[in-house]
Amino acid sequence: MVTVRALQTKAGTEPITMLTAYDAPTARIVDEAGIDIVLVGDSMGNTSLGYESTLPVTVDEMLSRTGAVARATDDALVVADMPFLSFGVDEAASIENCGRMLKEADADAVKLESGPHTVKLTKRLVQLGIPVMAHLGLTPQRVKEVGYSRQGTTRDSAREILELAKAHAEAGAFSLVLEHVPANVAKQVTETIDIPTIGIGAGPDCDGQVLVIDDVVGMSDRVPPFATQFGDVKAEMEKAVGAYRDAVEAGEFPAEEHSHVEKDLDELY
Ligand code: KIV
Repeated sequence: MVTVRALQTKAGTEPITMLTAYDAPTARIVDEAGIDIVLVGDSMGNTSLGYESTLPVTVDEMLSRTGAVARATDDALVVADMPFLSFGVDEAASIENCGRMLKEADADAVKLESGPHTVKLTKRLVQLGIPVMAHLGLTPQRVKEVGYSRQGTTRDSAREILELAKAHAEAGAFSLVLEHVPANVAKQVTETIDIPTIGIGAGPDCDGQVLVIDDVVGMSDRVPPFATQFGDVKAEMEKAVGAYRDAVEAGEFPAEEHSHVEKDLDELY
């Protein structure tokens, strides 16, 4: 079992690997491939639930998907992404929502899209035994404010990311996702803080890398500029579905071996 401590030991010796998964069969594949962290990302809003953004994802949806992933994962660390406004509004409600991910869905940790408002909360959650992964740079829950654009591109905004990274590390976060920030900014953050950084569109110098599974396997309609498609599952599914349709329409499926006949059940009427 990968623990947050084991991950911290791995950092700096070998790159940490992280991928999203939103269901049991995918989680099993990711886990069996030896990926260190399975993130039940709120990206499920776009990839699996048909929403336009991550904003509508609910705590109940996250609990259901995290439970499915955790049941199928033996070795990797399972991290539940906290949905928009499920944290950071009221401390007691934030703690309750985060705690449910561990108590009810068997997550190992939660991820918070972070900012000045999550420093104190991170400290409190960690005190209570809820490991926290922080997330800075592009945080898609702020889509209405910043869209999906690269962050930390000015000296001031890059310094703000660095300061917030330090504050979350001091508050006890066990790792930090850096999304869509310049590689040289991510490198300095990685060199400055003593918890592992996991980059997505943040260059090669982070302690680990994360991508959305749909982008990796070729299930996305649009792959972000910082991702690479490593397979073409969508083409395989289209082929299989088309072949099934053709076989049914041609009367070739089901064949004799797919049916059985009970000898005394003829002439029912
Ligand atoms: O929701 C998600 O999948 C994420 C990753 C892109 C880091 O937050």
